[in-house]
Amino acid sequence: MNPRPTIIDCDPGTDDAIALWLALASPELDVQLVSVVGGNVGLEHTLRNARAVVGLAGRPIRVVAGADRPMLGRFEDAAHVHGADGLAGLVLPDGPPAAPGIAADAIRDLLRAAPPASVTLIALGPATNLGLVFATEPALAGKVAEIVLMTGAMAEGNITPSAEFNAWNDPEALQVVFGCGAKVTLATLDVTNQALCMPAHIASLEAAGGGACLNAAARIWRSVRPSRRSAGRGHEQHDACAVAWAVAPHLFAGREVFAAMDCIPGPGRGRTVIDRWGRAGREANALFLETLDTEGFFDLVIRRLATLP
Ligand code: RIB
Ligand code: CA
Repeated sequence: MNPRPTIIDCDPGTDDAIALWLALASPELDVQLVSVVGGNVGLEHTLRNARAVVGLAGRPIRVVAGADRPMLGRFEDAAHVHGADGLAGLVLPDGPPAAPGIAADAIRDLLRAAPPASVTLIALGPATNLGLVFATEPALAGKVAEIVLMTGAMAEGNITPSAEFNAWNDPEALQVVFGCGAKVTLATLDVTNQALCMPAHIASLEAAGGGACLNAAARIWRSVRPSRRSAGRGHEQHDACAVAWAVAPHLFAGREVFAAMDCIPGPGRGRTVIDRWGRAGREANALFLETLDTEGFFDLVIRRLATLP
């Protein structure tokens, strides 16, 4: 099967780093652009981290800076989870310089030149860059094969009781993406919480014997604090689930749903309203991933990262 032309939009971010290395190690994807957004930490850090992660993999892929704040709201980071630098204190060699210009323009240019329904967008941070693309040039949705989003939650959130961090950071942008008309696949917390990285997975990664990328990933996995949600058992590899869906969909099961955003100021703002049982009678606009083969997922991540430099 020909590799899928792919754009990855991210906010590295410890789990974004693992997801990027998984994507760069996967022959199913032809990663043509990495666009960066402020999120886990400020754009100055997420951009440096994205350049360093791509550079460590030795791949000449353009990394371009995007939005440093949401479309309408106030920017708030998640440094309490990822550390002030965004990589839990891991210092990587500086990567190649960022490509000139801004992410929304680079994404639009790539989509304009692409054949219909050919480009896969994998979004691992706040959806601001994608929202800007489709809000300003809606017809570009016709060039998209699939938008895979790590975002949202049908059940409880992780930044507020209602909202997952990426969705909460820019709900208006996510609303634009939900309505753009392209095929949308949601890797929400409901499935990514099943990608719980435990000590045994870290030991397997370290035993796999790889290069600088695998060793850096092991140091990240060793450094990230276990989550309260898992009662300290491990930490969730949210973003790599979105990439894993694109390269190994057999690891997942899901269903078509209608999804919408709650953008109203208040306790529900940023909630992804996922109509699992079709109660709203609305036409489905997203594939909602519900279950993950957890051990198959970590086996994929470890095997693929072991192939990187
Ligand atoms: O809620 C988890 C998501 O928010 C992940 O993408 C993580 O990297 C942060 O961006
Ligand atoms: Ca992320």
